[in-house]
Amino acid sequence: MIRIEDLYKSYGKNHVLKGVDLEIPEGQITAVLGPNGSGKTTILKILLGLVKPNRGSVDWNGKIEFGDFKYREKIGYLPQIARFPENLRVRELFSMIANIRQQPCDLQGLINDFKLTPFLEDRLAHLSGGTRQKVNTILTFMFDNDLFIMDEPTVGLDPVAMIKLKDVIRDRCSRGKTVLFTTHIMSLVDELADQIIFLLDGKIHFQGTLSELRALHGENRIEHAIAQILETNGAEINSGKPEPYMEKCS
Ligand SMILES: Nc1ncnc2c1ncn2[C@@H]1O[C@H](COP(=O)(O)OP(=O)(O)O)[C@@H](O)[C@H]1O
Ligand SMILES: [Mg+2]
Repeated sequence: MIRIEDLYKSYGKNHVLKGVDLEIPEGQITAVLGPNGSGKTTILKILLGLVKPNRGSVDWNGKIEFGDFKYREKIGYLPQIARFPENLRVRELFSMIANIRQQPCDLQGLINDFKLTPFLEDRLAHLSGGTRQKVNTILTFMFDNDLFIMDEPTVGLDPVAMIKLKDVIRDRCSRGKTVLFTTHIMSLVDELADQIIFLLDGKIHFQGTLSELRALHGENRIEHAIAQILETNGAEINSGKPEPYMEKCS
């Protein structure tokens, strides 16, 4: 169990998280939902130790102190925006990460799954958005980690790659791994998530299973259940507000 307690995070006057308590069960797939700017990425980055909360704690096999890096060796992370030197070739990026991490890895299987062989000698600068996302997906899953955190993993993926992504997530879960992802794609939640966390106005608005969410709102379709929460609370999913910051350590 990953336990988050009483998490507060502000950027200046922007109070993003206002007392978040969460339990993420291990060996399951959890989807973090919420409108743009609701703090999904912030929570993931706090879990990863990339953002320091103003208050609160994260417990995963013991309390995690900010600046504690050892536990990250057990995490695969797909950032919302991944940045690597653009002149690197795909093959060079894979070997660079494999060398840095120094853990056994399964690269070839994933390269085959995501049909990346024709792109291995290409420089990152020349890749399409979808191919970049496939590269990032492989980087996330290449090590045998305990926890996989993905921030909007489907962006740019074609339908074949989407199916592969779902297969990989299900495979890791069937091997007892914990998967946590954010998305705006409700079909992905429908097909994969054991548990849903819905963030609104800096707090957890809902935590439970898909069927609990449906029952609560008397809606069979998850989009409609979510739309109902947002309409009732005067928010708008996908409000289109740009996220003006870069992926960074803050
Ligand atoms: N490094 C940062 N500096 C200033 N504001 C930030 C930073 N990161 C996020 N924010 C702000 O925090 C809020 C939540 O952002 P985020 O966690 O990225 O939301 P989500 O992932 O749910 O779209 C937004 O208003 C965003 O602009
Ligand atoms: Mg985000």
